[in-house]
Amino acid sequence: MSESSRTGDGDDRQHHLFGQLPMQVLLRNVFWPLRLMERLPQYGDLVKIPIGRSPVYFACHPQVAMEVLMDDTRFDKGGRFWEAARDFVGNGLASCSRAEHVTQRKLLQPEFQRKRVSTYEPMIVECIADTIGKWEDGSRIDLLKEMYEITGSAICSVLFGQSLAAPELADARLAFEQLLGGGLARMLLPAWARKQYRRANPRYSGANQRIAAIVSRAIGTRQEGEQRRALGILGRMRNDDVGRTALTETQLRDQAVTLFLAGADTTARLLAWACYVIASEPRLQRRLQVEVDSVLAGQPARAHHVPQLELTRQVLEETLRLYPPGWIFSRTAVSDTTLCGHRIPNGSTIFCSPYMLHRRTDMFTAATEFDPSRWTGKNPSMERHAGYIPFGGGPRICIGADFGMLESTLSIATILGSWELIDPVKSKARPSLILTPAPAMVRIRHR
Ligand code: HEM
Repeated sequence: MSESSRTGDGDDRQHHLFGQLPMQVLLRNVFWPLRLMERLPQYGDLVKIPIGRSPVYFACHPQVAMEVLMDDTRFDKGGRFWEAARDFVGNGLASCSRAEHVTQRKLLQPEFQRKRVSTYEPMIVECIADTIGKWEDGSRIDLLKEMYEITGSAICSVLFGQSLAAPELADARLAFEQLLGGGLARMLLPAWARKQYRRANPRYSGANQRIAAIVSRAIGTRQEGEQRRALGILGRMRNDDVGRTALTETQLRDQAVTLFLAGADTTARLLAWACYVIASEPRLQRRLQVEVDSVLAGQPARAHHVPQLELTRQVLEETLRLYPPGWIFSRTAVSDTTLCGHRIPNGSTIFCSPYMLHRRTDMFTAATEFDPSRWTGKNPSMERHAGYIPFGGGPRICIGADFGMLESTLSIATILGSWELIDPVKSKARPSLILTPAPAMVRIRHR
């Protein structure tokens, strides 16, 4: 282990510890990855895991994680996982390597700037109303299914805009879901088996063809000026008149699949977790209802309400801390390099885990407790900065963070405006590709 100089809060150290996870600890926890995450930091700030042919490391300190995330010239997306992901989602913004990332990010960024995102509000509001309009008093709902309906429809609406009619939008959502279903299991298959799967699975190949056709239809119409807005993100990127390079149909298909994958599932899980916590804490729910009633005055939530929904925001931020949907992600060293004074060979995988960092007891007071008050505007703590990375960091930071937070705030406020969430079935965190509450069942009662 290298020398360390700890300065109290664990946040501004000059040197970081390198350690190796003992094999017996790995074996004892191998089927419980979340338990492993909580234990890893005691072995160092950068911890080597003794598995596989190429070395695997975990960045267990915020500064080490940020060094990895900030410098994509040394640590890029790549390796076995991302190769497998590209087989299914193509070469879109989330999966492409650094060489293409700068261009792709420049193209998509304008669509996700806060000002543009606020124009998506009517579509989001409509999707929320459509979903909760079908709820029946006293029934038990599956939070994952309901929240996915909101977020899946919302992302389809902003992708395709008015270039698709309602039934086509619904078909697009279904096709995306069919294409991406069973994601993690397929990523773990070897390359030859993934190829077989794509060829032999009619559900997958059918969904793939439908998506290509839908994208092609949606971008078929060229429109000018104000009407471009109605085309949706894909149509605007095809019909560009602001100096951005237009994309081919295949590239647009890859971005569509990427944005659906990255945007619908993550936000649905955030919402499902938040609803589950709210249903489990009646006092918190009452405080939220008081806020929502006074801000909304009986109306559905709109974007202009969001700044006043302070407690709702805090609950979402705290949900992202304890249950970050993107609980783990990786980078690959693209050449021999050093980290924490330790030599990292070319091809090594380095994992960063918001779940792990957010639960470090030396970084967050009462780290395992759900305490939204730690996010009060009046009391910005070190927690706001150090080690809080629910949306990642550096050049690959989540492009849809503002969109996801707007959608989540509007959803929670609208739901609590007219419904009470009760009788949650005890849920556990399932560390799939995205951190999932399982099960995610609550009863709903009309207020
Ligand atoms: C609120 C829920 C969300 C969470 C927790 C979340 C989390 C994340 C995280 C952790 C990353 C970084 C992954 C990495 O570094 O490897 C990421 C990237 C990304 N997210 Fe999100 N995300 C959310 C919502 C969204 C939404 C709504 C969209 C799109 C509409 C979106 C699109 C993306 C894309 C395209 C990337 C890749 C960005 C790049 O590589 O430049 N996300 N997200």
